[in-house]
Amino acid sequence: MFFNKEQVWYRLTDAPDALPWQANQMCLVEVNGKTLTLARYNNAYYAFAHKCPHASGIMADGFLDAQGQVVCPLHRYRFNIQNGRNTSGEGYYLKTYPLESRADGLYILL
Ligand code: FES
Repeated sequence: MFFNKEQVWYRLTDAPDALPWQANQMCLVEVNGKTLTLARYNNAYYAFAHKCPHASGIMADGFLDAQGQVVCPLHRYRFNIQNGRNTSGEGYYLKTYPLESRADGLYILL
């Protein structure tokens, strides 16, 4: 994976389980003034945009389907939480962010 030289790793938390997880296994986090959605699926964490690229639905108010895709609450478009690909075919792209679990916490690259 290639990173832009201006990108920086930020520590999201030292205790991922203590984040304010909703029943849908998503929560909002704020990093460096930016609001993002965090999801946990199959013992892994994923980070992606706060708002849907279609019409700004709040992704954390949607749900993760049985395949681990995030479903927007407004018009039910689906996105792969690993790469942001729009899997329901409308041609949108959900911005995703790399995460890294380290000994001292969960880090995100912005
Ligand atoms: S706003 Fe997300 S699918 Fe329309």
